[in-house]
Amino acid sequence: MPLATSIRLVLFGPPGVGKGTQAAGIRARAGVPHISTGEMLREAMKNGSPLGQAVRAVVERGELVPDALIGDLVEERLSRPDAGSGFLLDGYPRTLAQADRLERYLAGKGLRLDGVVNLSVPEPEIIDRLTGRRVCPSCGALYHVRYSRPKVEGVCDRCGASLRARSDDTREAIGERLRIYHEQTAPLVARYQRDGLLVTVDGRGQPHEVLDRIVAAFPALRR
Ligand code: AP5
Repeated sequence: MPLATSIRLVLFGPPGVGKGTQAAGIRARAGVPHISTGEMLREAMKNGSPLGQAVRAVVERGELVPDALIGDLVEERLSRPDAGSGFLLDGYPRTLAQADRLERYLAGKGLRLDGVVNLSVPEPEIIDRLTGRRVCPSCGALYHVRYSRPKVEGVCDRCGASLRARSDDTREAIGERLRIYHEQTAPLVARYQRDGLLVTVDGRGQPHEVLDRIVAAFPALRR
């Protein structure tokens, strides 16, 4: 049973750095919801909802969806009762406008972030992680063709569905996502450093080693 820890964290870093992987480990410790904007958009795309239809082409090109749209989506999710005692935001904010909006939303409730975990991995390793990533379209489990292989090739260990590459893990879209990260998202590092919230964590090594580094930086996550 995870501890019900009251903690409000942002998992930050470039595409493929391991945010989703680490979110699973942190969630198991903190018992707060993992709110991934990428997952929310992919779910909408899978369901063919109006939102999913509106964002599909943008996401598949590796571009960012509009700030207003993603801000509304996040605030609706944060307003649900399970996020009342904390949350783990993954993939949001990723522009200065999104960071401002999040700060205003939390301040309106008398809250603030407890920290921003800035995962760091050299770019060649990031590209290797993304080109080899496989996901389960049914339960969302994450794999990698070399670093995190399923027991049976191409089959999800958890639910038996066939694994696939994400539609935005093409070489072209990865290049665009990294370009946008450097241009629009990386400037947030200085902002969160200035606010005293940024903790940069080496994202290399086994996922459990990376998790240990995150836990060491946030005593509330220690069991
Ligand atoms: P999103 O889903 O947030 O994608 P991302 O930021 O590009 O990050 P990824 O999910 O690709 O990577 P990750 O860091 O979670 O790495 P993972 O753990 O999977 O967003 C997708 C799109 O949605 C965006 O491009 C945009 O269009 C839109 N969007 C989302 N949020 C938005 C926002 N706020 N504003 C506007 N648009 C938005 O790991 C990757 C691989 O590496 C896996 O195979 C994993 O098994 C492997 N791995 C992980 N850790 C390790 C390790 N330690 N060692 C070896 N392998 C590892």
